[in-house]
Amino acid sequence: MSQTNQTRVALITGGAIRVGRAIALGLADAGFDVAVTYLKNAQPARELAAEIEGKSRRCIAIHADLVDPVAGVEAINAQLTASFQRLDVLVNNASLYERDNPGDASQARRLWAIHVESPLLLCRRFAPMLKTAGGAVVNMVDLQAERPTPGYLAYCASKAGLWNLTLGLARELAPRVRVNGIAPGVVEWEVDLPLEKREEYLRRVPLARAGTPVDVANAVKFLCAGENYVTGQILRLDGGRSIT
Ligand SMILES: NC(=O)c1ccc[n+]([C@@H]2O[C@H](COP(=O)([O-])OP(=O)(O)OC[C@H]3O[C@@H](n4cnc5c(N)ncnc54)[C@H](OP(=O)(O)O)[C@@H]3O)[C@@H](O)[C@H]2O)c1
Repeated sequence: MSQTNQTRVALITGGAIRVGRAIALGLADAGFDVAVTYLKNAQPARELAAEIEGKSRRCIAIHADLVDPVAGVEAINAQLTASFQRLDVLVNNASLYERDNPGDASQARRLWAIHVESPLLLCRRFAPMLKTAGGAVVNMVDLQAERPTPGYLAYCASKAGLWNLTLGLARELAPRVRVNGIAPGVVEWEVDLPLEKREEYLRRVPLARAGTPVDVANAVKFLCAGENYVTGQILRLDGGRSIT
């Protein structure tokens, strides 16, 4: 249903579970109406929408496959503009964390599509609304974009592309739209990561704990929920790991 919307609106890709879910809830608590996209997690997306509606905010869940950026972005645009007439915040969060598979000739292209092409097309598609709103973009990058991990080179290279894109978009969309990135260390463990691997990772984290999805949501709120003078920056959200 279309209606005039005075409330600020945030779009979070891959927002049904884990970090994206925490960002969506954080922005709803900060007063935003929310659109989240999902691929496989339809039921968690519906539950999140109900939870946000319970906070007297509006929330829509949009199915979109961002490995096909053109179709995915069109689906998002059609459904978002049918429900909301504005966009203030775009969080490019959707991601595929895949170990390199040399037998899969299209893997690097898939990762590039989700981490670089889709954020670029979303920014271009929504630039007019973001400019009208004086809005902000946050791209979810990764510490591994700076220090690539053997075995994950296609993933790391695509996140390095997103890092670079963040700087370019910050210049291109200024002065009306601020564009920043967050490069987390671990903020939500891979589900199957053994305890000894977790301990090994934490040995080089000065703050001596993993981050949390709420840590990310708080950083997103700082970068985009209010006025500030920050654009073209990548915030290393890593408990200090990158300085060790
Ligand atoms: N977790 C960490 O510690 C960590 C560390 C460094 C960087 N990051 C970055 O922070 C962000 C959030 O992390 P996360 O661990 O919560 O991410 P994640 O679980 O790996 O992925 C987030 C969402 O992306 C969606 N997605 C996957 N393939 C998609 C596709 N083809 N089209 C559209 N959506 C797709 C999934 O939606 P469905 O579930 O609906 O399929 C998934 O829930 C990511 O960008 C990640 O790279 C996270």
